[in-house]
Amino acid sequence: MMLRLTFWLALALYGAVYAALRLAIHPPIPASVLTIYMLLTAIAILVFVSADERRFTQFIAPLAAVFEGRAPRAARIAVLAVIPLAAAWATYVRVAPSADAPFELRVIHPEPPSSLSVHGRRVEIAGLQNPLRAKGSELDKPIREGKTIYYQNCFFCHGDALAGDGHFAQAFRPIPANFRDVGTISMLQESYVFWRVATGGAGLPKSATPWNSAMPVWQDFLTEEEIWKAILYIYAGSGSTPRTWDDEVKHDKH
Ligand code: HEC
Repeated sequence: MMLRLTFWLALALYGAVYAALRLAIHPPIPASVLTIYMLLTAIAILVFVSADERRFTQFIAPLAAVFEGRAPRAARIAVLAVIPLAAAWATYVRVAPSADAPFELRVIHPEPPSSLSVHGRRVEIAGLQNPLRAKGSELDKPIREGKTIYYQNCFFCHGDALAGDGHFAQAFRPIPANFRDVGTISMLQESYVFWRVATGGAGLPKSATPWNSAMPVWQDFLTEEEIWKAILYIYAGSGSTPRTWDDEVKHDKH
């Protein structure tokens, strides 16, 4: 009786090993390791069933019945349908696009170029300061104007509270920068932020790839002054202060 069931017992054992490896081990083992284990399991089962001639005959009996046409028609059709369907499914699983974020290492704040072109004019980044701030004048008005610019252009992505959680934020990988996070604008100089806003995702250097930034090229839509005003606002609105070139000098002296 047991002998007659050899094929099905072998199949059940294979399935049980697979289930145990998949479900009982935490954290899950990598797919490549699982493949090796399943291959070894298959070999072990084949070695076992082929060690005894009677057992082996029983093992291949159901297969022989199907392929030699002795099994019931329905069983033969089922087997012939399952094989291509399984192949199709395996192919689909491999090529189907996934909504998961790809696991890629990328430079969050790549080295900026030494200069950038804004509206066709070359601007050196070293020493570049926000002209509105440099004047030392009253900042209330430009901040207010920057706020308008922000809510007309940036808030869809960077969010109502500047926390990188605007309406469209979840559609992007990477998600828009959270200006309240200490890891974003508060650790950057305004010149750097100006470069990022003016040239957007397209302005990121090749060395920063892979990077699929959705950040638009704002010099195509805003004047230089509007960009500086928006920058004033993202600092004021998020309660952060930019790093300055003075900090840099002090830092270097230490
Ligand atoms: C279409 C969505 C979108 C809009 C609109 C948008 N951004 Fe962005 N922004 C992003 C994404 C995504 C990132 C993160 C990837 C990157 O740094 O390029 C980003 C990054 C930034 C960064 C870089 C911050 C850092 O820590 O490096 C700044 C600064 C910035 N945005 C400012 C702005 C300003 C100012 C506006 C409006 C004038 C704006 N963004 C509008 C999507 C957007």
